[in-house]
Amino acid sequence: MNTNEVALVTGANKGIGREIARQLATLGLTVYLGARDNERGRTAAAELAGDGDVRFVQLDVTDPDSVAAAVKAIEADAGRLDVLVNNAGIAVEWDTALVDLTAEHLRTTYEVNVFGVVTVTSACIPLLRQSPNARIVNISSSLGSLAKLSDFESPQSKHQLLAYSSSKAALNALTLSYAAALRADGIKVNAATPGLVPTDINAGAPIPRGNRTVADGAAAPVYLATLPADGPTGVSRGPNPDDSIPW
Ligand SMILES: NC(=O)c1ccc[n+]([C@@H]2O[C@H](COP(=O)([O-])OP(=O)(O)OC[C@H]3O[C@@H](n4cnc5c(N)ncnc54)[C@H](OP(=O)(O)O)[C@@H]3O)[C@@H](O)[C@H]2O)c1
Repeated sequence: MNTNEVALVTGANKGIGREIARQLATLGLTVYLGARDNERGRTAAAELAGDGDVRFVQLDVTDPDSVAAAVKAIEADAGRLDVLVNNAGIAVEWDTALVDLTAEHLRTTYEVNVFGVVTVTSACIPLLRQSPNARIVNISSSLGSLAKLSDFESPQSKHQLLAYSSSKAALNALTLSYAAALRADGIKVNAATPGLVPTDINAGAPIPRGNRTVADGAAAPVYLATLPADGPTGVSRGPNPDDSIPW
């Protein structure tokens, strides 16, 4: 049990983020369930009330004022943060051929998957510094793995999602940069890959999405979110917590 620890999960009103929030709550953490929409967030937090201490906080990762207000509310309420899960993510290009994509598709995707992570992480660092064992988990994807993308026989290289793949590759670079920079503060920063799970983000994908559950997808994120003080930083894990995904 991680009683007294405090976590923030972004994009946690549904999908894998909601399950990460639920599992962290069952482990005894106080969980701030971040959602950009008040009604969706309140509903999800109410649904998880039986799993532990889950508190809705309005948080749109693309809106710096919303992020600042959320962090201020957590500071006033809890005074610190032990876990930040940067989970909010979008994919906007399922029905567009790669050659028809524009910079606008990338901008829209990066606003959430890349710039949003920077906005939230920067805002949370002062609160994370109050923790004796802070962990940041960035939810990445094997579609952002340059090792996989450069193997033209790999399933990842067949998807050719210009915006989404490059956003997750950028997220991986952010993860390593933050890990190196925050090592001296004792803040661990790692990337977790859920593996393919049928959720709203890939509802438009032209591929069979399989039948893995959100609990399967949450396994690596929750493992990295609950690392002990002597756990690793700057690693990429998933879909099983013990497996490494090459950068
Ligand atoms: N599912 C997979 O197969 C898979 C595989 C690899 C990686 N991932 C990653 O896992 C993470 C979760 O995805 P998911 O599968 O659970 O998808 P999902 O069900 O579509 O959930 C995405 C979440 O992100 C939120 N979100 C989107 N834009 C936001 C913003 N501007 N501010 C705050 N929250 C925002 C959504 O909120 P709304 O409800 O308001 O839209 C929703 O709560 C993503 O980072 C995704 O890239 C998923």
